[in-house]
Amino acid sequence: MRQRLDDIKAEALQAINAADSGKDLEQIKIRVLGRKGILTKILKSIGTLPPEERPAIGQLANRYKKEIEAAARAREKLILSSSTGTHIEGLDPTLPGRPLPMGTLHPITQIMDEVCSIFERMGFTVAKGPEVELDFYNFEALNIPADHPARDMQDTFYIDHKVLLRTHTSPIQIRTMEQQQPPVRIIAPGKVYRCDSDVTHTPMFHQVEGLLVNRDVSFADLKGILTTFVHQIFDAETAVRFRPSFFPFTEPSAEIDIQCVICRGSGCRICSQTGWLEVLGAGMVHPEVFRHVGYDTEEFTGLAFGLGIERITMLRYGIDDIRLFYDNDLRFLEQF
Ligand code: PHE
Repeated sequence: MRQRLDDIKAEALQAINAADSGKDLEQIKIRVLGRKGILTKILKSIGTLPPEERPAIGQLANRYKKEIEAAARAREKLILSSSTGTHIEGLDPTLPGRPLPMGTLHPITQIMDEVCSIFERMGFTVAKGPEVELDFYNFEALNIPADHPARDMQDTFYIDHKVLLRTHTSPIQIRTMEQQQPPVRIIAPGKVYRCDSDVTHTPMFHQVEGLLVNRDVSFADLKGILTTFVHQIFDAETAVRFRPSFFPFTEPSAEIDIQCVICRGSGCRICSQTGWLEVLGAGMVHPEVFRHVGYDTEEFTGLAFGLGIERITMLRYGIDDIRLFYDNDLRFLEQF
């Protein structure tokens, strides 16, 4: 019986490998594996064998059946790929396919996500606001009235005399406070627009705004939160300095410098030989801002800050031209 099975298998495999059409193959399959096929017959007759022989022969027959089926499938593939119609001169169907290019997150998106997660770990939640904004939210409610010189600091894209592209993420402070009572603890990431373009400015860039309002919020909280942030986004050795500054919507106001990450403070081209780099604007929320949203200025105090994502990304990766971010050159983008 064993010998007979071996013969059937050898004959079947030989015939399969000689088949050169689907039809040939089909006939061989019928002859061997069909309902009345020679191997099928043996499998059916196993019950008539002496009991001690049945398991071994049964196993062998089933194994051969599988081998023959697999060989037939492989031959079928080969016939299909080389038959007229699918066969193309010079095309080798056995070559591996072309890999699809894998995209990566834009460096700005990556740093944006990282900045947000640092503040989220400190208990802030993300808030959003519109990029096409009302003059009221972008300026008026932030204590920047129509004739205020601070409007000249920002080169605004106006849509009409009341509607503009937001020049900063600070209007989200107002929109959030209009909607909820203290305590408030939000960060607001997003695109902002200013009519400005050179190696360190693009007309569209990204900011993350922060706002914390509660009883007894102090300048010490501001220093603690922002120092922690700098140490996490750069490293714990990076020195931080708070320098008095001015924003109409904060009082007192500060700009936060970090020790130059390129020269480590000894002075270089990037930091204009000062050893320091400005990375954040911040301050204690001005009472006039609270009045616009109806918060009690006796009961609550707040801190606010705003940072530029492009700036931080450039420092993190040592990039010296902001326009590289928006050229969409894959040779640049693939490095992150
Ligand atoms: N909105 C300011 C800017 O764009 C930054 C800032 C935010 C300053 C919050 C103080 C408080 O320059």
